Amino acid sequence: MQDQAFTVVLNDGSEIAVLADQTILAAFEATGRRMLNSCREGNCGTCETDITFGEADHRDEVLTDEEQAEQVSMMICVSRAKGDRIGLDL
Ligand code: FES
Repeated sequence: MQDQAFTVVLNDGSEIAVLADQTILAAFEATGRRMLNSCREGNCGTCETDITFGEADHRDEVLTDEEQAEQVSMMICVSRAKGDRIGLDL
């Protein structure tokens, strides 16, 4: 199934549109913001970001199945939102 576009809500209430073919990290960087990252493939854990609301569609190789199920944090270089909106500690 093809990926869907969704919206990320930041701590200051601003919103970033993530296109269907774009990662959260890429959409974040496209706004001129920067954050630490390394592999950009879901393997290193550098881009781990806390979830403030909503749920992630986890696609990383860092978090355990249990950690993914807890929906506390996500790797924004690969993982996406389940649904239309997700809040992130950014
Ligand atoms: S940059 Fe390595 S897991 Fe996201």
